[in-house]
This record gives sequence, structure tokens and C-alpha cells, in this order.
Amino acid sequence: MGTHLDQTFVSEGNWKPDLFAGKVVFVTGGAGTICKVQAEAMILLGANAAIVGRNPDKTIEAAKDLQELRKDCKVIACPNVDVRKVESIKQAVDKTVEELGRIDFVIAGAAGNFLADFNHLSSNAFKSVVDIDLLGSFNTVKATFNQLRQNKGSILFVSATLHYYGIPFQIHVGAAKAGVDALSNALAVELGPVGIRSNCLAPGGIEGTEGLQRLKRNVQKNIESVPLQRIGTRRDIAESTVFLFSPAASYITGTVHVVDGGLWHTGHSATSEIYPVVITEKNSEPVLKL
Ligand code: COA
Repeated sequence: MGTHLDQTFVSEGNWKPDLFAGKVVFVTGGAGTICKVQAEAMILLGANAAIVGRNPDKTIEAAKDLQELRKDCKVIACPNVDVRKVESIKQAVDKTVEELGRIDFVIAGAAGNFLADFNHLSSNAFKSVVDIDLLGSFNTVKATFNQLRQNKGSILFVSATLHYYGIPFQIHVGAAKAGVDALSNALAVELGPVGIRSNCLAPGGIEGTEGLQRLKRNVQKNIESVPLQRIGTRRDIAESTVFLFSPAASYITGTVHVVDGGLWHTGHSATSEIYPVVITEKNSEPVLKL
């Protein structure tokens, strides 16, 4: 899913070809469609990368794929890592430092998502998403902190726009991402004095991603609602990622960069067509499972 960035991102793009030469990016959720394009951009501009994921096949496959992007790059796979377990991330960090020498940039992108209304969202389902997105983000910084401190590195959390107002069917993700934004802001303040920057990137609907795939039936209608009159692309995510890690953003910390063409300002959500009919049906009987 989702096409690769290619050499034109460098040859005809906005960035110096060797912008991240000698640097290493550590990406959780790196096999996913959003985080993989972030890794692609960093690799094309000179970085080496560690792709960290829970699913072994997907993670190894993504790392192999990324390895093809630049002749002299080193991309390692860190499979079987569950961000809910800090020790599991620590092992990936140790492997990365051993094989790539250092970590300069951290992308905390591992996420869980599905559409579910409150009545059909169990306590455990809510916990799973908060654990993966919020605790997982905390754990990722915890495990990489020493490297970030040594290298005056930078963190980018993958957030969302779901918690700026109440969006139905996304209670779990909204709550988790609100926490991620809060975590990033406080880290910016605490870690700024040791030279570490912390920011969030909040994608809207991005074509060719798992997130949008789940909402496919609404996409066409939604384009007209986007102030910039188009759906987001993976390249839009790549450009913002490069900017936030680049020296151009050296005075930027504690921010949330929304990459959604202005959509959230309109109050239009991808679930609005199924509201309130579906939510009324969903609430017709209380689900007995807690
Ligand atoms: N609707 C309602 N509940 C759901 C659900 C859905 N579509 N999918 C999972 N759950 C619930 C499960 O029923 C379970 O709750 P229960 O124990 O009360 O039955 C709970 O979530 C945990 O599910 P589990 O299968 O044990 O998964 P997990 O803890 O390993 O977490 C998830 C993984 C739940 C986040 C899963 O959706 C996932 O792996 N998704 C793929 C990755 C992803 O979504 N990436 C984001 C791309 S946008």
C-alpha cells in the first residue's frame, strides 16, 4: 500500500541531498504506511535507519525495501518489538547502537486503531490503544533517552487531530493522542535544556495509508471539505518530517504540526456521514461485556 518516494524527492525536491548524512533515525511503527514514508525521506536524504515493529514479516520486509532506496545506506530491522514493553524497545536500541553506531532522531509512530463506538469498546480495547499509543510513546523516549541526550537529538511523535473536538467512534485514539501531545509538550520543556527537541506531527486523511483505507467510502465526499481541495499524500508527511528534523527547525520544539490541508478547522470529520444514524443503532442495546 502506498507508493515509494523516489530519487526525485532528492533531485527535484526541496532539501539538500546529504541533509542527514551520518545520522541515524529510529522509527517505531516503521513498517506502517505513515512511518515508512518518514523513514524513506530520511534515508533518501542520507540517514541510516532502524525500523522497529511488532510484526516480524512486515518489519523485515519494510527494512529490506527501504535498503534499496540509497546505495550506501544501512537499514536494520528490529522485529518483535512491542512498544508496550520498555525492555523490548531497549533491546532494539542496543541493536541499533551496535550496528549503526548512534541514534539522532526518534519517530514514535507505533499505533493501534479501529473504529468503535463507546458501547462496543471494551475496557481492554480502550487500554490496548492507550497502551500502544501513549505508554508506547513514553517508553520509546525512555529507551532512547541516553542516545538523544548524547547526540542532542530530536523526537517526533505521530499524533492525530481526533481530540481537538469530540469525534465519534474514535474515543480510544483521541484520548491516547491527547496524552501524546501533552507528553511531547512537557518533554520539550524538560529536555530542551539538554539540547533535545520534541514535536508532534498530526496527519489528517492521507491517501495510500491504513488509516484512510478504513474510512475509504467517505474519501471522495471529504475532498471537497478540505480547504486545500485535495487529499493529503504520503509526500506531505515526508516533507513535514524532514523539516522538523532539519536544522531549519532548530528553534522549534513543543509544537504540533497538523498536516491535513486545514480540514480540522472546518469541523468536518470522516465519520460525519454515519452520524447520528449509526451511533443511535450502536446504542440501541447496551453491550453486556465491560
Ligand atoms: N472493535 C472493537 N474492539 C476491538 C477491535 C474493533 N475493531 N479490534 C480489537 N478490539 C479489542 C479486542 O476485542 C480486545 O478487547 P477484549 O479483550 O475486550 O475483547 C482488545 O481490543 C485488544 O485486542 P487484541 O487483539 O488483544 O490486540 P492488541 O492488544 O494486540 O492490540 C490492536 C492491537 C487492538 C490495536 C489492533 O487493532 C491492531 O493490532 N491493529 C493493527 C495496527 C493498527 O491499527 N495500526 C494503526 C493504523 S491506522
